[in-house]
Amino acid sequence: MLTLGVESSCDDMAAAVVRDGRDVLSSRVESQIDLHQPYGGVVPELASRDHARTVSQVVKAALDEAGVAPPELDGVAVTAGPGLVGSLLVGLSFAKALAYRLGIPVVGVHHLEGHLASAELADPSLTPPYIGLVISGGHTALYRIEADGPARLLGETRDDAVGEAFDKVARVLGLPFPGGPAVSHAAESGDPDAIAFPRPLAAREGFDFSYSGLKTAVALEVEKRRAPLAETEVADIAASFEAAAIAPLVSRSRAALRAEGLRRIAVVGGVAANRRLRSELARVARTEGFEATFPPLDLCTDNAAMIAAAGATLLKRGEAHGLDLNSFSRVPIGATPWTSSAPD
Ligand code: KG4
Ligand code: ZN
Repeated sequence: MLTLGVESSCDDMAAAVVRDGRDVLSSRVESQIDLHQPYGGVVPELASRDHARTVSQVVKAALDEAGVAPPELDGVAVTAGPGLVGSLLVGLSFAKALAYRLGIPVVGVHHLEGHLASAELADPSLTPPYIGLVISGGHTALYRIEADGPARLLGETRDDAVGEAFDKVARVLGLPFPGGPAVSHAAESGDPDAIAFPRPLAAREGFDFSYSGLKTAVALEVEKRRAPLAETEVADIAASFEAAAIAPLVSRSRAALRAEGLRRIAVVGGVAANRRLRSELARVARTEGFEATFPPLDLCTDNAAMIAAAGATLLKRGEAHGLDLNSFSRVPIGATPWTSSAPD
């Protein structure tokens, strides 16, 4: 079974061809980093307009790279939400039109179910039940992944997402967009104990997260000092912020594994690329006897192979959508059928 995946929920236009929901035949991502860099963040109007320019080229490149002609496809999987509605609509409209033209089913995929599918795509030995930690520019959430049916939410951020905090801290430190890799790189030469930033909700029970207080504390710390900051100050602030941002991800993951009686966790989304998180979680996993899976970097950040893989599972279950498939900016996992006309 050949599935074409299309993903355009934010600032990346991506297409991929996946065989039987497991073998990635091609995965193309057209990044818009240069377009948004001058603004220090994603500008939605620019993102959707650029997706309209690139969508057909990216899909064609994915099909060519896979050596697959359009009539050979068995289905099209497309991100229907959550995300920027203008961006989502470009991929969604293209996917529906292509599926209609080819006479094959189209299925809407939840972006986070796509991220979660990337872990099983990368490591076929990973089978439910396990804990999924989704950490990206828009999401910070812990799920219990079940064999059949949607993932069960255990906890999530009450305000900003962790990737968003990295991006905002990069901005106040004068580091380039996207902020995650830049802050992480600056942190390598800094002292993580230099500044005791707040660790919100650390003393609270449960699995929720909070990042807006931490982000504000970093902004106040920068304001307090005399601009321009010395390189060592930037490094120390970046390292101290990174330590405070990563600590709850590790402690909440450990608590969720214990509470659910599970021994495996998969970490997905752009922030899963973070080196400090990878090494801290691996260290805790060794001492506590659980296993942490991180997909390779190209599957961690937004891509369409994960959407094709998640979509293939739905298509195999016979879950196709009609041409009234719509896009949604905010929607929980499992809340399909994605066809409402009311604004979300
Ligand atoms: O999953 P993703 O590609 O897109 C979203 O769905 O948001 O994640 C992008 C996010 C950005 O906020 C970026 O700054 C962050 O992932 N990120 C990182 C690192 N690499 C990317 N955050 C921390 N450390 C990194 N090494
Ligand atoms: Zn994402």
